[in-house]
Amino acid sequence: MTDDAAARLRALAAEVDAALAALPLPAHPEPLYAPVRYVLAAGGKRVRPALTLLVAGAFGGEAAHARAVPAALAVEVFHNFTLVHDDIMDSAATRRGRATVHTRWDEPTAILTGDVMMGLAYRLLDATETDRAADCRTAFHAMVARLCEGQALDMHFERTPDVSVAQYLDMIDGKTGALLDAALVLGAHVGGATPDAVAAVSAAGRDLGRAFQIQDDLLDLTADPIAWGKPLGGDLVEGKKTFLLLQALGRAEGAERTWFARAASGGLPPSDVEEARVRMARLGVLDDAEAAVDAYVASGLQALAAVPDTEDGRTLRTLAASLAGRSL
Ligand code: IPE
Ligand code: IPE
Ligand code: MG
Ligand code: MG
Ligand code: MG
Repeated sequence: MTDDAAARLRALAAEVDAALAALPLPAHPEPLYAPVRYVLAAGGKRVRPALTLLVAGAFGGEAAHARAVPAALAVEVFHNFTLVHDDIMDSAATRRGRATVHTRWDEPTAILTGDVMMGLAYRLLDATETDRAADCRTAFHAMVARLCEGQALDMHFERTPDVSVAQYLDMIDGKTGALLDAALVLGAHVGGATPDAVAAVSAAGRDLGRAFQIQDDLLDLTADPIAWGKPLGGDLVEGKKTFLLLQALGRAEGAERTWFARAASGGLPPSDVEEARVRMARLGVLDDAEAAVDAYVASGLQALAAVPDTEDGRTLRTLAASLAGRSL
């Protein structure tokens, strides 16, 4: 990545951080809004709002970037809401290097924190000044349903021993792709993109969502745990049907297949996570995941050729390319 693109992406993340910090959240009741502030101040890469702002700017220039800020915040607040509820579903005690809301407070608090953030996301979406407001709402509603469908399948697959790669891809298109798709589509609408261009960035969102989630599955086993902000191997312990586990089940034979079958039916004890990583590396599963991420990023970049070749358009493509091989 060029220094210019890296600086531009840091500036976008800082712009989002500042706008989130400036949201006029009520002070009372404190047991509800303290955890909301805790979540929104915890950092995060801010990839999704950067996508919204860059697409809007690429199609509609600086004025569209400014008009897209509430939509970008809606996307990021919605994302953070899903993480709060996801951490309950995934029994995750740590995120972004800090205790999750249901661990630091309790589950009722985390449920309500998520709920109120979802409402806030809708308010931000409604505050977006655009003559495509109806299109934006339609895209957002469709995203909400797809994301919940994906999360439901993710949970259901924990109790399903045989999941195909096609079923896995459909699941991640929902839980992860839907929001990347919506982030790009909202930006394209605010920027005034043509229907063909909206369809192209939507397709890019699906590809980039696949790349993003397969890389997330890979990082869950291979990241630097300090930078990653949570312990490694949580997916294997939970019995998640990740890309890695499905590939391992496909490649392993005999006793090794039986070893991995335990992970697929109920999960592994934390003490077996390192052995799973070694076995997966030996089977070539980690390389499979990297190759899949590269292929989906390449496909997403092709679709993003529909975005004008302005500085924002080029930064958008740089951000998309950087999703392959990302380390956090
Ligand atoms: C985590 O998303 C949830 C997934 C869809 C994998 P991010 O990796 O974007 O999380 P933050 O916002 O940077 O913490
Ligand atoms: C991400 O799935 C999807 C959503 C949060 C909607 P994960 O469960 O893999 O995300 P992380 O790994 O907890 O961030
Ligand atoms: Mg999850
Ligand atoms: Mg999770
Ligand atoms: Mg994950």
